[in-house]
Amino acid sequence: MTQTLTLRRPDDWHLHLRDGAMLQAVAPHSAGFGRAIIMPNLVPPVVTGAQAAAYRDRIRAALPPGAALDPQMTLYLTDSTDPADVVGAFRDGIIRAVKLYPAGATTNSASGVTDFNRVRPVLEAMAEAGVTLCVHGEVTDPAVDIFDREAVFIDRVLEPLRRATPGLRVVMEHITTSEGVAYARAGGDNLAATITTHHLVINRNAILAGGIRPHYYCLPVAKRESHRLALREAATSGEGRFFLGTDSAPHPDSAKLQPCGCAGCFTAPNTLSILAQVFEDEDALDRLEAFTSLNGAAFYRLPASEDRITLTRRDTPPTYPTHITAGSETVTVFDPGFPLFWHQEPA
Ligand code: DOR
Ligand code: ZN
Repeated sequence: MTQTLTLRRPDDWHLHLRDGAMLQAVAPHSAGFGRAIIMPNLVPPVVTGAQAAAYRDRIRAALPPGAALDPQMTLYLTDSTDPADVVGAFRDGIIRAVKLYPAGATTNSASGVTDFNRVRPVLEAMAEAGVTLCVHGEVTDPAVDIFDREAVFIDRVLEPLRRATPGLRVVMEHITTSEGVAYARAGGDNLAATITTHHLVINRNAILAGGIRPHYYCLPVAKRESHRLALREAATSGEGRFFLGTDSAPHPDSAKLQPCGCAGCFTAPNTLSILAQVFEDEDALDRLEAFTSLNGAAFYRLPASEDRITLTRRDTPPTYPTHITAGSETVTVFDPGFPLFWHQEPA
């Protein structure tokens, strides 16, 4: 039996598109989304409004004709970010948000914030102007166990930062723990959280049990099953403070399949099929649109999309590549580990 589901066009509130040959290869796989918050962790990172505008031009040029994707740019917060540049770029419509990476927390985060006192003037200017701060919420203290780094970040960094800057709008990016869910829920109107597709699907066993599987390694690393269940409950709750940020993060296989491999799951090609299956399994298909297409726009004070997409459940699996080619490299597409039935119909 075929079943169809019509949704307002989904937005992706956390996306890595990279640059150069990788951008050319991956951009078409996100072209069917509406707005997408584009991560600034290029090498070197996107730190000024002028760089964000130039990167937006490169993204637009890499999209196929007629693509819906509307890149929403971010600046990479550093210890020396200029508050006036941030506010100017926001008011000029160049950026939608600013990204905070604690220095050393993840891929290409070496230029991130080392001292939160130094960025206080930027955060205050952002609070005043209504610019959202997107936070990679993990401490970098090597003494803290990697599976605890999100929960410790909330106590040590996020709560003090939010207290010190009242009115700052914050998105906890890619939450992975029940502590993250609880903190986001308790946070009032200026706080929200994105949840990735892959963290709804895998727990840490996927990475480590029965052999090491680098394609399931990302940051924040997937946690134990109870946390995955908390994320599924939050994502399918319909609550406005939870919305989709895929964190689709392509890396060449040659960089993932190493003694020290990169963090990131490339989910753009099959994200919507996977999400529809997750929501079906949770008996929450009626709340999929809130998660993918309504809640994020509302938090960012943007109208919901007027476009619609149709998902159709068929007996046959949707076709998507298991790998894509980027220049001379291959990139492995995320394998959810269960069969998919939901197809996205061409617009
Ligand atoms: O897994 C991840 N990959 N987490 C991040 O925070 C960064 C991302 C990337 O850029 O590859
Ligand atoms: Zn990311």
